[in-house]
Amino acid sequence: MVGSEHDEALADAFDGQAAQFERAPVQSDPAALERLVRAAGLSADSLVLDAGCGPGLVSEALLRGGCRVFGVDLSAEMVGRARRRCAAFGDRARFEQGSLFDDLPAGPFDAGISRYVLHHVADPDAFVRRQVELLRSGGVLVLCDSTGDPDSERARALDDVERARDKTHTHNLAGGQIVDLFARAGLTDLRLSEEAYSLDFDEWFDRGTPVDTKENVRARFLAGPHARGFWAEALPGGSVRINAIRAIVRGVKP
Ligand SMILES: C[S@@+](CC[C@H](N)C(=O)[O-])C[C@H]1O[C@@H](n2cnc3c(N)ncnc32)[C@H](O)[C@@H]1O
Repeated sequence: MVGSEHDEALADAFDGQAAQFERAPVQSDPAALERLVRAAGLSADSLVLDAGCGPGLVSEALLRGGCRVFGVDLSAEMVGRARRRCAAFGDRARFEQGSLFDDLPAGPFDAGISRYVLHHVADPDAFVRRQVELLRSGGVLVLCDSTGDPDSERARALDDVERARDKTHTHNLAGGQIVDLFARAGLTDLRLSEEAYSLDFDEWFDRGTPVDTKENVRARFLAGPHARGFWAEALPGGSVRINAIRAIVRGVKP
């Protein structure tokens, strides 16, 4: 069931961009997916909640690593893709359309994971707390997302550009702010790692749900100020590269 207006906007946006998202270089990069599974450090056969599972790229990597997965996503198109992608894993993989905040027909979970979801949610604390609630004691929570900047002015400027490119964007948090979310949710043994990566501006823009023109967004993004975790650089030849840092944060439910 889709609840709030924001959830409805997310479901629409991701129904529309599911195909492009599934083959986007950053999202589908097998080496990055492998590193994420390694950073999660889960035991074989763990039952994992993939919160905002999208087309099942993270789920598939976890399934290959021996986990079982329950994925939930607001977008029917994303859930259909996740089911098809992970069909070979039979009943080790299950996907349902709906919100993370619905009553879920599975759990408690040994682990929860979300990738590139936090910057779309209206209430980051509630998003983390909800996953913690669904974990067993001793369960592991892993969150991977692109980052913003610890300086609030730079972070706000980035969020403005991001929202011009995608109306469902809320906030890119800095790595330390994600750690603080985990601490406030009562998780222990916190770890943060960062990975640098890059994207092509056009590829990024073209799969968004913009509220401004590509030219305006490019100009505003290049003008800065440069956020530490996501900034644009003009390359010789005319293309624009986005230099980005994603955070992977892991914690344990006592
Ligand atoms: C950028 S995609 C990431 C997909 C996937 N995690 C990946 O990295 O390949 C974000 C997804 O989160 C989903 N989403 C956002 N908020 C959600 C919520 N409250 N409950 C379920 N899904 C949600 C969206 O529908 C969208 O498909």
